[in-house]
Amino acid sequence: MIIYKSPEEITQMKESCQLAAAVLKHIEASIVPGITTDEINTICHDFIISNGATPSPLNYKGYPKSVCTSINQVVCHGIPDEYRLREGDIVNVDVTTFYKGYHGDNSKTYLVGKVSRAARELVNAAEEALWIGIEEAKKHSTIGDIGHAIQKFVEAKGYSVVREYCGHGIGKNFHEDPHVTHYGRPKTGAPVKPGMVFTIEPMINLGSAEIILLDDDWTVETKDRKLSAQFEHTIAITKDGVDVLTLID
Ligand code: MF3
Ligand code: CO
Ligand code: CO
Repeated sequence: MIIYKSPEEITQMKESCQLAAAVLKHIEASIVPGITTDEINTICHDFIISNGATPSPLNYKGYPKSVCTSINQVVCHGIPDEYRLREGDIVNVDVTTFYKGYHGDNSKTYLVGKVSRAARELVNAAEEALWIGIEEAKKHSTIGDIGHAIQKFVEAKGYSVVREYCGHGIGKNFHEDPHVTHYGRPKTGAPVKPGMVFTIEPMINLGSAEIILLDDDWTVETKDRKLSAQFEHTIAITKDGVDVLTLID
């Protein structure tokens, strides 16, 4: 069941979303060779707490940390640990805040120092894929249209779209309906209507779309161990288009 939000609720949600976006800005300068993903987790955690919010992932279905850090072949839900970032890595930091009753969810893939051209191009394509989805949502089309637009773009570049993890409605709950798949058929799925608030968060792979779940029951990796990249925004559908709630500056 999709929970539609009033304009007042969307205004409230934007506060949580803007804080989540501020966390990604705050951590940016620390994404350098030598920092551990645990240190990234702590910096994000402390910033969230000091702003009067809580990190939604912590203890969510038993998740042990405050953010997800997904490096190179990790598709999503990487758990921060003592791994030190190396020049040439790509790392997605996924931040969700709970503030004044609402969740705000966003993520970004950072380049660590100088990275290969293949990595840089994949990361750029992942960000572009997110924005293609946002542009499609502006037309008040359907959830299937959003997925189709993303899939068409990604596959034309020779990359692939992960199927098992999707965008999602968000509000008082971290994950709500609808499932926002990043692949699909035009004119299928729920119509995109004012009052909907959901994330778009395409995970795109350099090689095949196949994934594996590691023994920690969280970390998702590409089966072929080739790179994967992801960007995420929380968007609200308004009368005249879209408000990207996690966009700052
Ligand atoms: N933030 C992720 C998302 O985009 C969900 C992370 S769940 C966690 O939906 F438990 F791994 F944190
Ligand atoms: Co999300
Ligand atoms: Co997220």
